[in-house]
Amino acid sequence: MTDDIKRLHVITWGCQMNVYDSDRMIDLVAALGYRPVGEPEAADLVILNTCHIRDKAAEKVFSELGRLRDLKRASALQGRRMVLAVAGCVAQAEGAELVARAPFVDIVIGPQAYHRLPDLLARANAERGTLIETDFPADDKFAHFPQSARRSGPTALLPIQEGCDRFCSFCVVPYTRGPEQSRPAAAVVAEARRLVACGAREIVLLGQNVNAWHGEGAQGLAGLVRMLASIEGLERIRYTTSHPRDMNASLIAAHHDVGKLVPFLHLPVQCGSDRILAAMNRGHTAAEYLELIGQLRAARPDLALSSDFIVGHPGESESDFAETLALVHAVGFAQAFSFKYSARPGTPAAALPQVPEPEKERRLAALQALLREQQRAFNENCVGRELSVLFTGPGRRAGQIAGRSVWQQPVHAAGPRSLVGHIGEVKISAANPNSLSAILLAEEPAQA
Ligand code: 5AD
Ligand code: SF4
Repeated sequence: MTDDIKRLHVITWGCQMNVYDSDRMIDLVAALGYRPVGEPEAADLVILNTCHIRDKAAEKVFSELGRLRDLKRASALQGRRMVLAVAGCVAQAEGAELVARAPFVDIVIGPQAYHRLPDLLARANAERGTLIETDFPADDKFAHFPQSARRSGPTALLPIQEGCDRFCSFCVVPYTRGPEQSRPAAAVVAEARRLVACGAREIVLLGQNVNAWHGEGAQGLAGLVRMLASIEGLERIRYTTSHPRDMNASLIAAHHDVGKLVPFLHLPVQCGSDRILAAMNRGHTAAEYLELIGQLRAARPDLALSSDFIVGHPGESESDFAETLALVHAVGFAQAFSFKYSARPGTPAAALPQVPEPEKERRLAALQALLREQQRAFNENCVGRELSVLFTGPGRRAGQIAGRSVWQQPVHAAGPRSLVGHIGEVKISAANPNSLSAILLAEEPAQA
């Protein structure tokens, strides 16, 4: 009955794990009659799925909450109830502060407790005051997510690991997502099969420290990737995000042997100075990272690399920063993300003397200029080459379709919409700052 349909608006910040979690929360409350809408104005339930990794992310949440408070008041004046839920890592890390600063929030729910959302929602509709659910329950939240065959785009996210035991000096993840937990291989393979049956051609294995996966039923991530590679109809496998210390010989060998494992790896190094790497508690030196890159490239010569960088970690001097630039020159990245260090309450680095803000800004600009130049060179080098593209949707202009190369570059080509969800061969005709233009050569032969 249409009267029973309730409106849900979800805003998601942060990593791909949050994107996945938001989709699962949407599935969970769909069973209660909630349907997603594009605007929060007349929503019955608004979920903010938040990120706490850098300070600006948390500030965005508080400013969004200010706007929602007004909408909630407007709803109340019309006799409707808007339930406001804050989920994700800000909820987990700052639950108490949230309630103090935004007492009109109805539900505060941490990332390990999403399966309790329907129950909290029933209570929120009946009670007043903020309900907080931020313990780390022992039960496996994934087991509680609805497992019905659900839609899948050509690229599907599949979390296999959550939490982190590494405790890098700057990072909140071990505190917000808790200790490392790996899903059993059988559960991962079953979900992958379902996703492929629902249209996925590429699967992105997700985890805060995904290559530390140590679930039951396979020998590490390499064993799991080999199991997944045998799924018919699955064409591409990626995993993100990894720690250099958790790369091992069998995973490197998988990059050589498993054709479905794409030749692209996001392997954050954070910085290039041994002194700062030690201060960050990363557990390796710059030379060890370069050695690892050498082994990976020997295993898979067309491997393209991506990384995360932090500039201005406490104690970073100008010469430490110069070593980061030197490492970037030595590797040659296809793309990378870089950030100014942001002190996170409760993390070890936050208590140390801080690098002045203008210094961080200067270093970030210099690093980003170098990374941009490397990305441009990498893209430029693709012009004239034949690449396979997984088409994921319509392009910017009429008659165009868009997709991704194995190296994650967005690619646009003139072609029929019927190619969306398929892999096609293209010839790259031009490199733009953030994408490639291409001419379609041929679609892969249709699968029997
Ligand atoms: N400040 C800046 N960047 C950070 N990251 C994690 N914590 C911080 C912080 N406190 C970055 C790291 C990590 C990425 C996901 O976010 O580079 O790899
Ligand atoms: Fe954070 Fe990654 Fe370090 Fe874990 S390995 S503490 S998630 S930066």
